[in-house]
Amino acid sequence: MDISSSLLLLSFFLFVIIIFIFNKINGLRTSSVSKKKLTDHVSTHSYGPRFPQGSLGWPILGETIEFVSSAYSDYPESFMDKRQLMYGRVFKSHIFGTATIVSTDAEVNKAVLQSDSTAFVPFYPKTVRELMGKSSILLINGSLHRRFHGLVGSFLKSPPLKAQIVRDMHKFLSESMDLWSEDQPVLLQDVSKNVAFKVLAKALISVEKGEELEELKEEFEQFIRGLMSLPINLPGTQLHRSLQAKKKMVKQVEKIIGDKVRRAKNKEEDGAVAKDVVDVLLKDSSEKLTHNLIANNMIDMMIPGHDSVPVLITLAVKFLSDSPTALHFLTEENMELKSLKEMTGEQLYWNDYLSLPFTQKVITETLRMGNVIIGVMRKAMKDVEIKGYVIPKGWCFLAYLRSVHLDKLHYDSPYKFNPWRWQERDMNTSSFSPFGGGQRLCPGLDLARLEASIFLHHLVTRFRLEPLSRPERN
Ligand code: HEM
Repeated sequence: MDISSSLLLLSFFLFVIIIFIFNKINGLRTSSVSKKKLTDHVSTHSYGPRFPQGSLGWPILGETIEFVSSAYSDYPESFMDKRQLMYGRVFKSHIFGTATIVSTDAEVNKAVLQSDSTAFVPFYPKTVRELMGKSSILLINGSLHRRFHGLVGSFLKSPPLKAQIVRDMHKFLSESMDLWSEDQPVLLQDVSKNVAFKVLAKALISVEKGEELEELKEEFEQFIRGLMSLPINLPGTQLHRSLQAKKKMVKQVEKIIGDKVRRAKNKEEDGAVAKDVVDVLLKDSSEKLTHNLIANNMIDMMIPGHDSVPVLITLAVKFLSDSPTALHFLTEENMELKSLKEMTGEQLYWNDYLSLPFTQKVITETLRMGNVIIGVMRKAMKDVEIKGYVIPKGWCFLAYLRSVHLDKLHYDSPYKFNPWRWQERDMNTSSFSPFGGGQRLCPGLDLARLEASIFLHHLVTRFRLEPLSRPERN
């Protein structure tokens, strides 16, 4: 036998061994984890609750590579669509290092999001958990979470904050748009990122300009780079740099808190009205909200808040530029409002923006089609049965919101940008949940809609947007 034949034989041999080990591990995992759980806790007759079908993929890697590569392909839905066809709307997989039950079923997702922490708790990858720390609003559960979420949510919805945001965004956008010229491309996502960060920093900790803001922004950029890094905390690694950046930011916020407390003690300012989220939390009498916990959480709250709004704005402009009729309606509506206000000499209020019916439909449709947050993850704290499926204790659960929003079952022509579909439709259904649901419903949802409405208003009333020349599809 010559060398090439021997190599071929050896490769074949190795291949057979790998497949054998792979099947063994997979089989073991399915039988020892899920099947054992099933027989332990749930009856398995053919009409009883069933463990979702599916594949755990390769050892260690699971199906992560296929999941990630489909996201970068021309057909990002391929991963979910393929499995939905093979196994149904709820199936098992193994992604990002964890055995996971994936759901593209609106009702199952709703039931999981509505359940409390005795059944499901939030799940984030290890790196994200390390960066956030145990007392982050994104991770805590029970009464402390409800208190924190309630206080933050009501402040972010409050009319005085919304009025402040209208004033600030008007200022920030005017300053930025004054510099736009025809011969210079404008990167909308960068502009909106800059504006959204300033709005957030002011709403959370009243940092609004100068060196303090620049320093915070710089450290924050370093901090969020770590969210996508390896979970190795050694000098020189990204996670280490990000943790150092967080430490500096926490120190900066603790100083702000210290100054606020001192000023309140000396009666240097009116403490009756909360100016930012820190003020709201400091007023809470419960001693659980320590200064360090508040400072850490102000940084953590910037994670969901900072990128989502710019993506929403950029996608809205992209969809509008592909849809001349929608762009025309939106522009007309906003121009009308602007002329009316100029005639009466009145200012634009936050509820003027939020009551523009077509603009709101455009934002809703962008949230549906754009899927700024594609899904949310949980971990099962006990065996849970929903709609005939069993989600075993210890397994992760991915509520894949994107597939629901693009499902023919719920939306006619789901890939068509059609703001008019919201004319008759109710937004409060399980088939529309861009901001999640239940106890962890996004507390920034009003803020996100308001910021997007103000941005679009300024854009279409100051500039004439040319739709892309592609014909509109019906
Ligand atoms: C288009 C914009 C936004 C979208 C689509 C969005 C979406 C979401 C979703 C789906 C969740 C639920 C996560 C879960 O259930 O685990 C969430 C949570 C959260 N969002 Fe937003 N969000 C947006 C903007 C904002 C803004 C502007 C803020 C401002 C601070 C914010 C702050 C938060 C916080 C603090 C949580 C965690 C709530 C908790 O776990 O109790 N979000 N968001």
